[in-house]
Amino acid sequence: MTTGTAGRVPLIAGNWKMNLDHLQSIAFVQKLAWNLKDARHDFGDVEVAVFPPFTDLRSVQTLVSADRLPITYGGQDVSAHASGAYTGEISAAFLKALDCRYVIIGHSERRTLHNESDEQVAAKVGAAVGSGLIPVICVGESAEDLEAHGPSAVPVAQLRTALSELKPGADIVVAYEPVWAIGSGQAATPEQAEQVASALRTVIAESLDADTAARTRILYGGSVKAANIAGFMRQPNIDGALVGGASLDIAEFSSISRFRSHVGT
Ligand code: PGA
Repeated sequence: MTTGTAGRVPLIAGNWKMNLDHLQSIAFVQKLAWNLKDARHDFGDVEVAVFPPFTDLRSVQTLVSADRLPITYGGQDVSAHASGAYTGEISAAFLKALDCRYVIIGHSERRTLHNESDEQVAAKVGAAVGSGLIPVICVGESAEDLEAHGPSAVPVAQLRTALSELKPGADIVVAYEPVWAIGSGQAATPEQAEQVASALRTVIAESLDADTAARTRILYGGSVKAANIAGFMRQPNIDGALVGGASLDIAEFSSISRFRSHVGT
């Protein structure tokens, strides 16, 4: 199996969770774009994406398309259903209609607070890919799982199920987010994250095929900040980060996006 990083454009993804309303998100995206432009950020070299709340997406779309900003964006969740009597849900087609490139699926907060099962995650992944969205499939073990099964067993099993409706060649992103590292200030070590990312790449090769595995970007998430991003980005199987808290600070998020300037320091 190829694990070379060739062709995988790193992705720095900001998950805003339930923060920033549509007016705040417009101001944020505009300032972020200026900040990165001033720093001569090459968006073709490192992609920068934001994941605002649903109610912000139309405003972000309008700004990004009017000002031709090179920032991509997506939703934080999606319905497994195409349409119908599902009060409160948002379809993949609705997100696609707002030019979303991505959608986060199976974030640990959805799995824990909304009891999302691996099967529901798989159905959402199928719906997203079917509508032309790129799912950012989140997997990760809790502190109890870590103690009982080690770091890879649970994320590997979660990913196997999440990929069950896909065919080889599917355009996906995988995010390894240890639950104990999310919002805790206690990130995994780059070596721990690499070990799991490598196991996840093997799952993609087995479930889909080797080509898809070699092309798929695998992100690390959980207490990523400017001070620790470089260590993760030096790992051969880590192709970016899913950033929560630190993505709400423009200077910090820009600095994470510009990790190339501090890799090797
Ligand atoms: P954090 O969140 O960066 O605040 O740990 C990560 C996430 O939930 O995606």
